Amino acid sequence: MLEKLKNIEKNALEKLTSVSSIDGLEQWRIEHLSRSSEVMGVFSQMGALSKEERPIVGQEANKVKQKLEGAFVEKNDILKQEALEISLSSEVIDVTLPGRKARPGGLHPATISIRKVLGILADMGFQTYTSRDIETDEMNFQALNFPPHHPAREMQDSFYIDAENRGDNPMLLRTHTSPGQVRAMREYAAADPQNPPSVRIALPGMCYRYEQITARSEVQFYQVEGLAIGKNITYGDLKGTLADFARRMFGVNARVRFRASYFPFTEPSAEMDVECFVCGGKGCPVCKNSGWLEILGSGMVHPVVMQNGGYDPTVYSGFAFGMGPQRQTMLLHKMNDIRYFWGNDIRFLQQF
Ligand code: DAH
Repeated sequence: MLEKLKNIEKNALEKLTSVSSIDGLEQWRIEHLSRSSEVMGVFSQMGALSKEERPIVGQEANKVKQKLEGAFVEKNDILKQEALEISLSSEVIDVTLPGRKARPGGLHPATISIRKVLGILADMGFQTYTSRDIETDEMNFQALNFPPHHPAREMQDSFYIDAENRGDNPMLLRTHTSPGQVRAMREYAAADPQNPPSVRIALPGMCYRYEQITARSEVQFYQVEGLAIGKNITYGDLKGTLADFARRMFGVNARVRFRASYFPFTEPSAEMDVECFVCGGKGCPVCKNSGWLEILGSGMVHPVVMQNGGYDPTVYSGFAFGMGPQRQTMLLHKMNDIRYFWGNDIRFLQQF
């Protein structure tokens, strides 16, 4: 029996020398140290031994088992160390290499343009006021003096919302920021209905129109609306304010002109052009050889709109204007396609 134990030990240790992987070592452990191994077999055969032999064989079997266990642990450490060395030498990290550049995030060009306009208007005393994107037909059109079948509605083909049965006052995505004028006036007037305070606000926001998407028209775009209401506000105030805006926006030498126009919610109405800053007014592809760029729509607030806002048009007067800050960015950077704004092309966005 003792002889057999010696052979078991010798044989197992010999086989261990040729083990060269963690998997191989596991195979070795199963073969030489598990329940079904030879050493463990010796323990189960002890019953057949004499009283005197039993402790001697038992002790010896324990020694062999411990020796094999010790050898297993040692080999395991060696193999692990080897694996570590291999990975350390093959996966070299060069700490002297420059790190990967983190690309800083930036503001979207449309956001930059809207903030620039709002910043200038804020300097001029126009407080930013936000209104809702989802409007009622009443606020988007009727309160602004577009009657239900008024042809001017066709200027703004709309996204109507298929909501509950609302008769002739359906919901829609606002087609312009102008309905915010009436909402703001009502809120101001509610503070003191007999003697409403004067108003000087800028209304920024996304507008939506049901249009074919082309290089020149998108279904969504920003507008910034301006509104000034008070006593004795004149058309001269409108012209002075908007000419000043143009100088702050396009440079101290910016020249402007006003062209008579039509909007249902203003009377009289005018569009403002700025002298083309690409060619200085000589004529070029950006201004289509006219020398002028159309920048905004404006006018004196219509008495009906004034009344709808809670202001007595015989006591108060005011002016309003609306512009597209993205359009101004396009003109400034000679962009020829509006679709870049929502195209999410990083090569475009990175340039701002
Ligand atoms: N709401 C007009 C549009 O979407 C722009 C506009 C024109 C706004 C004249 C105004 C205004 O406040 O007075 O085209």
